[in-house]
Amino acid sequence: MKFSHEWIEKSPWLLIGLVLLVISVGGLVEIVPLFFQKSTTEPVAGLKPYSPLRLVGRDVYVREGCYNCHSQMIRPFRAETERYGHYSVAGEFVYDHPFQWGSKRTGPDLARVGGRYSDEWHRSHLDNPRDLVPESNMPGYPWLAKTKLVPEQVTAKMRAMKRLGVPYTEREIAEGATTLVGKTEQDALIAYLQGLGIHIKSRN
Ligand code: HEC
Repeated sequence: MKFSHEWIEKSPWLLIGLVLLVISVGGLVEIVPLFFQKSTTEPVAGLKPYSPLRLVGRDVYVREGCYNCHSQMIRPFRAETERYGHYSVAGEFVYDHPFQWGSKRTGPDLARVGGRYSDEWHRSHLDNPRDLVPESNMPGYPWLAKTKLVPEQVTAKMRAMKRLGVPYTEREIAEGATTLVGKTEQDALIAYLQGLGIHIKSRN
């Protein structure tokens, strides 16, 4: 039988098979190199694994569902970079397991919120956002300031991160809990927020 395109189009299973083949080759060619490129696998200059306090704060962020209203991903569009600063790059997220990129923006993107406000600002904002931004519809999280951390819990968290490739040393893991004594969940969350996106600075 002579090969013709018509023949492929008239055999649905063959057509499906070939379509899948073409898409998977196309996909692999785009995706596989990302696992080996420096720009996507290496941390940006100055980026360090989360300190124990920030690591715990990140878990508070996830637990409270902040990602339901806040993304952490500045897209490379003028409207976004004018408002939030330099667009996000892959090397900023190599220690994030899992990423908090998100896509829902009821509130502003937080990818570069680090250093934008004082710790005191965050304290009052987290206790009751309307004290600072009267029209805000962000919920208050007043219990965070009243809840003390359980320092020992961080050891297992750091070990889990290490298993996922975060280069914590045994000494850092052993000493992690001691840095959390007396701290609250609010302290941890604020430490987390204050470090977001500070390694690439190009804000106005
Ligand atoms: C129901 C949606 C919603 C949730 C959930 C939410 N926020 Fe917000 N957030 C907002 C809105 C809206 C604003 C803008 C008004 C304001 O500043 O309060 C905001 C503002 C902020 C800002 C100031 C950002 C800036 O650049 O001015 C920070 C920081 C912040 N939120 C942190 C958090 C954290 C941390 C959590 C989780 C504990 C959280 N938000 C949960 C809606 C939300």
